Amino acid sequence: MKKVYVITGSTSGIGNSLLKKLAADNTVFAGYRNEKYVEDLKSISENIIPFYIDMERKDSIAQAAAFIKSQTEKIDTIVNIAGCVVAGLMARLDVDDIRKQFEVNTFSHLDFSQRLLPLVKDGKIINISSMASFGIFPFVGPYCASKRALDILFNSLAVESNVKVVSVKPGVIATPLWSKSIELNKKSIESCKDYEKQMQYLINNAKKNETNGLDVNKVTDLILKIDSMDYPKASYTVGKDAFWAQIVSKLPQDMINKAIRYGIKAKVSSLK
Ligand SMILES: NC(=O)c1ccc[n+]([C@@H]2O[C@H](COP(=O)([O-])OP(=O)(O)OC[C@H]3O[C@@H](n4cnc5c(N)ncnc54)[C@H](OP(=O)(O)O)[C@@H]3O)[C@@H](O)[C@H]2O)c1
Repeated sequence: MKKVYVITGSTSGIGNSLLKKLAADNTVFAGYRNEKYVEDLKSISENIIPFYIDMERKDSIAQAAAFIKSQTEKIDTIVNIAGCVVAGLMARLDVDDIRKQFEVNTFSHLDFSQRLLPLVKDGKIINISSMASFGIFPFVGPYCASKRALDILFNSLAVESNVKVVSVKPGVIATPLWSKSIELNKKSIESCKDYEKQMQYLINNAKKNETNGLDVNKVTDLILKIDSMDYPKASYTVGKDAFWAQIVSKLPQDMINKAIRYGIKAKVSSLK
């Protein structure tokens, strides 16, 4: 039976892969922030209804939800995917950039989902969180915190109501997120005096991840599987790195910090 999906971040990476899989047999509201993608989205299938949403702007989130409500009376699944990475040194990061990280990765998804909840009667909300939610990675503190907060806020929603909420926590996936992150964090990277090597390590890693990461289909196939389940778990990891991040996060904080400091030092000292 034809179902109704709402996806944010549908123009790239995980969201675009999921959109292509869903659109053949379902109605999919596909969120974009850049007009240049509208024709591409429409050309995938006539079942796709593109909608504009800028996750940094409350008025845009309200307008997007109002548009969807004007087009359908029910939603089977909302997949909250849109996201970005704010990185840098915690001692120097502009707090407004951290606010922006939370707007895009956390608050916008809650705001948007709250507005659409009356339409999600027996449906699900699937959030694309991250292994970063386990909170063990330095230099990307804002990203880790935004994903952890996303998980906590939506878990509360699930416990307080009957809405099925699932958090999908991928490890490194080969998507354009990595090169976009280097671009987005240029300012932080340039103001990293005394930490040049650490930043170089981050950049090298991001470049490698964009091609060496897990295939995006691993995430989107799991999302489809979760969507088909009557009783999915509250949380799923994708990839060995995410699995191990979860295990490591259970250790005492001092032990984690020691291991991470040691790991970073070893990586950085091997840089030429
Ligand atoms: N790739 C990974 O290794 C990885 C691992 C764990 C979790 N994740 C999470 O998976 C999700 C999707 O990431 P991805 O890897 O598929 O990255 P991606 O290819 O960069 O896709 C991100 C999507 O979010 C949209 N977006 C970003 N900021 C937005 C804003 N302010 N308003 C509206 N839309 C916005 C992007 O739009 P544009 O196309 O216009 O840029 C794009 O459609 C993110 O939440 C990310 O944190 C990714």
